[in-house]
Amino acid sequence: MLSIVYSSKATEAFEEAHLVDVLLRSRRNNRRLALSGMLIYRDGYFLQAIEGPEAELRERMTRIAADPRHSDIAVLLEETIDERMFPAWTMGFQETDAQAGDPAPGLQAVFDDIAAGRDPVETVPSLREVIRRFQSDSR
Ligand SMILES: Cc1cc2nc3c(=O)[nH]c(=O)nc-3n(C[C@H](O)[C@H](O)[C@H](O)COP(=O)(O)O)c2cc1C
Repeated sequence: MLSIVYSSKATEAFEEAHLVDVLLRSRRNNRRLALSGMLIYRDGYFLQAIEGPEAELRERMTRIAADPRHSDIAVLLEETIDERMFPAWTMGFQETDAQAGDPAPGLQAVFDDIAAGRDPVETVPSLREVIRRFQSDSR
């Protein structure tokens, strides 16, 4: 199986109603395609981890990347995995903002790097911590 973590920027017209549509669609498609993962929306930026059979995942990523509701898609991690990180979630979701503080260690730092377009290499340790935190919530 393959696991991809990417960030993106919500386009200007992005509204709350879009989130509902994205989640409903994602969960329906992901169940059918045996994909799982998590999505965080914070102050106009997305962080998504998505995993599953490689062919299905790559095909779905092409569609996701073409979605006009977001732009600036940057793949932060891509690796083969033996076991799912989010077995229980067709797409776990959390919305946070800076005012809500830092729900997972390093989350703010990760989103700061995303917003600044900084080299994801520096973000990776914090990113793994954020994913671990969500992972434990999904079990
Ligand atoms: C941030 C973001 C994350 C998304 N994640 C997924 C996803 O995990 N799975 C999925 O099928 N669609 C996801 N989508 C929606 C796709 O871009 C696209 O609208 C959808 O896959 C098309 O579904 P359809 O084939 O049913 O028309 C996401 C969209 C956005 C903006």
